[in-house]
Amino acid sequence: MYGMVNKAIEEMLVMHHGEDLWEKVKAKAGVAVEVFISNEAYPDELTYALVAAASEILNESPEKILHAFGEHWITHTAQAGYGGLMRAAGRSIDEFLSNLPNFHARVSMIYPKLKPPHFECTDITPNSLSLHYYSERAGLQPFVIGLMSGLGQMFKTPVKVKQLQFKNQDCSHDVFSVTWN
Ligand code: HEM
Repeated sequence: MYGMVNKAIEEMLVMHHGEDLWEKVKAKAGVAVEVFISNEAYPDELTYALVAAASEILNESPEKILHAFGEHWITHTAQAGYGGLMRAAGRSIDEFLSNLPNFHARVSMIYPKLKPPHFECTDITPNSLSLHYYSERAGLQPFVIGLMSGLGQMFKTPVKVKQLQFKNQDCSHDVFSVTWN
């Protein structure tokens, strides 16, 4: 994944737990990188190793860390670094979610090596929809749930997310129900 992702994990961990914790996480993960370059692609394994190391050191599940990272990505990284892109995608949660399927296509224009997730929205009502999440990566569902929660905070609209369907041999992707007021 692009360095911006690892950089954002670093930022979240330093913000809540300080520099020393971050150095311990990197050491445990066997990551020797001093500074992540935002627009350089790094192996996915590195990102997973950082999450696993943070999970062990903080004694929190990887799912909890990924969830917190999803929230942080929206409330800090995306809004601070890509405010224009975020604002252009919608002025309310329902508008933003309905534009989500096209969102990373715009990100890909800036970052051509992006291997983005794919989203689809179905069963759309005024206060809910089913969000279909397709990814070539495993285990990032808690990140998606955290992202939805972060969007709820950004739009000051409490959001409820429930996983309806899991990716497995019979189903090509995950499906979440997203409900807001
Ligand atoms: C301006 C804001 C955003 C930027 C710059 C951005 C960029 C990225 C980047 C660089 C990756 C790693 C993939 C790679 O490097 O190949 C990624 C992954 C991902 N993004 Fe975004 N993104 C943004 C907003 C969002 C939003 C709003 C959502 C959903 C609400 C989202 C959902 C995801 C997910 C789920 C992944 C994990 C990859 C996977 O599932 O395979 N992103 N994004």
